[in-house]
This record gives sequence, structure tokens and C-alpha cells, in this order.
Amino acid sequence: FRLAREASCHVASQIAALIRKRSDENKACVLGLATGSTPVSVYKELVRLHRDEGLSFKNVVTFNLDEYFPMQSNELQSYVRFMNEHLFDHIDIDPANVHIPDGTLAEADVPAFCQRYEEQIVEAGGIDIQILGIGRTGHIGFNEPGSGPNSRTRMITLDRLTRNDAASDFFGEEYVPRRAITMGVGTISDATQIYLLAFGEGKAPVVAQSVEGPITPNIPATYLQEHPDARFILDEAAAEQLT
Ligand code: F6R
Repeated sequence: FRLAREASCHVASQIAALIRKRSDENKACVLGLATGSTPVSVYKELVRLHRDEGLSFKNVVTFNLDEYFPMQSNELQSYVRFMNEHLFDHIDIDPANVHIPDGTLAEADVPAFCQRYEEQIVEAGGIDIQILGIGRTGHIGFNEPGSGPNSRTRMITLDRLTRNDAASDFFGEEYVPRRAITMGVGTISDATQIYLLAFGEGKAPVVAQSVEGPITPNIPATYLQEHPDARFILDEAAAEQLT
């Protein structure tokens, strides 16, 4: 796409079409959602479709990719807060259908929570559409370099570069949490359809490596090459280094 805005509207319209189709069939539509700056305009367009075109989210179930650990849900950088502000507060989704990894847990409770998160995805029928961004390390979710293709929801240690990229959100790299809870590469790969969005020239090198480079745990996004229905949705700047 020439512009990020056009790309975002395209993805939002694909999501809206599936929500409506599932609603006509009286079925749930299960969405895997990402945070960060990239998907903001997708959520903006979904909110517009709800407000102006009657798109209902009553049959929608969501699972977010990740959350910093530890993280209280009312903190500025919380992904719970992010999702409420950008999407959930503006649509008619049932709060019981929203799932986000819990950054408030005691550390000892994290493994059981992660296992339960996996089960909840399965019980919901599996993820129909997964939205992803990509980090400069090649992470999807917070699956940093070294994450295996079969990894599941778990606690991870954030890469230095990722913490550096988050520094401005936290008013200094030293305040960025060192860990996060994330869906695994295996969890993500189980989604029927995947849209990875990347905008801007800063993402161009990692996009080219992810799409055209060899599949490697050093760049977890390369695993998407093996997925039967994964698309990279790019603006011109992010696509610049593709051959
Ligand atoms: C966020 C997430 C991350 C981001 C990635 C890009 O839930 O899982 O993988 O998608 O760090 O972040 P932005 O969009 O801010 O460049």
C-alpha cells in the first residue's frame, strides 16, 4: 500500500467482513490483537465502522498477544489501558470476551495463567484472524530472538533493543520492565489467518529479512514464511528493501 492509512483500512475491512459473516452464522469471531503504534489506525477504523456503519462486536472474542511484567492495568504503559483507550471503550464488545495477559500476577502464578490462556484460546475455537506488528529484533508478540517455532504463552526476557525502543514510553530505558508475558510463536502460528503490519522506513530492514531471509530463531518473524495464510501489510517505506 502507498500509505499506512490505506493499509490499515484494508485490514479493518477484512476483520469487519469476518465479524459480519460469523454473526450471520450465529458464531463467535475470535481475534488475536496487538498493541504498539502500528495497529492504532486499524482500531480507529474499526471504531468508525462501529459508530458509523453499525458494525457490532457482540460476537467477538479477543486475545491480546502480550503484556509487560510486572504491569498494573491502570499504568500509562499497560496494554490493558492501551486496548481500552484505542478500541474496547468505543465498541459494544462484552468485557467477558476480552483476554489480555495479566501483568499483575504474582510470579509464581504466571505458568498456570499461561497454560489457562492457551486453553481459553482453544475453548473459544482458535484464533480466526491474528494481527501482528514487528519489532526491530524481528519479534512477533514479544517472541524475541531465540524463540522456537513451537513456543507457547510464557514469560520472556525483553531484548535490549526492544527495551530501547520502548524507552520513550517509559521516560527512560531503565524504567522499561525487563520481562513480559507473550503468546508463543506456536500460539500465533495456530491462527487461521495472520496479518503482520509494518509501517515506516525503520522497519524496512527487518521486513526484508523476515520475508526473504532464511527461516531462523534469530528472527522469529521468519517463521511466518511457513504459515499457509500469513500476509505482510506494508506501506511503501517498510517495503523499500524487498528485492
Ligand atoms: C505488541 C507487540 C509487539 C509490537 C512491536 C512493534 O503487542 O506484540 O510485537 O507489535 O514491538 O511495535 P510498534 O508497532 O510500536 O512499532
